[in-house]
Amino acid sequence: MPLLRLDKILCDTGRCSRSQAKEFIRAGQALVNGAAVRDPAAKFDPETVSVSLAGETVEKPGHLYVMLHKPAGLLSASRDTRKPTVLDLMPPAWRKRGLFCVGRLDKDTTGLLLLSDDGDFAHRVISPKSEIVKLYEAEVEGTAGEEDVRAFREGIVLKDGLRCLPAVLRPMRPGLVQVEVMEGKYHQVKRMLASRGLPVRSLRRLRIGGLWMDETLASGGYRLLTREEIDAIAPGLLSK
Ligand code: URA
Repeated sequence: MPLLRLDKILCDTGRCSRSQAKEFIRAGQALVNGAAVRDPAAKFDPETVSVSLAGETVEKPGHLYVMLHKPAGLLSASRDTRKPTVLDLMPPAWRKRGLFCVGRLDKDTTGLLLLSDDGDFAHRVISPKSEIVKLYEAEVEGTAGEEDVRAFREGIVLKDGLRCLPAVLRPMRPGLVQVEVMEGKYHQVKRMLASRGLPVRSLRRLRIGGLWMDETLASGGYRLLTREEIDAIAPGLLSK
């Protein structure tokens, strides 16, 4: 592995921007193998070096795993488009690394969206074979009843004849339901509910597998997933 500048090594971990990395290093907050290094241009092997920043060990540069509290009004498209996308919220250094959306939420859907630059991770989260449950909360017109719950359990057949996998519908109160699905077909939750005469007014994703939306993140806020969170959603991925 070629040697890299310390500010680049820090920036590549996704913890900070290049200019923030320089500031941390000059302030003596970056320890390399236990000793303070104050030169941002000092070079090390990123594979073997141990770096801590402000007292915390930083992971070796690897993939990025990001949780976003998606606001309404942004596309979860990864490719360049003239329309505003969730990638516009991400730091340029992360975008340059090829961050993309892990699955999609509709433009008007809010809540938990994951982004990564790791195709294996995305495949595991999205593939119905992984049986990762996605939990949504929907405001609907009308009130869901036992018949609707049963229809979800048996597998909804959409208007175009598409059969959905068995899913969970949980009436919360009149006009509010929770839905658990394992697939991500186009507009799936909205179409499933509409097929039962329950058109969706608003939709929010609360959970993917064991990973809940971090409610401390304001709308539009994001953070890196912790090692434990990555491991919970894609066991063994980091030790590959
Ligand atoms: N199902 C939908 O209908 N829309 C979403 O954004 C996600 C799931």
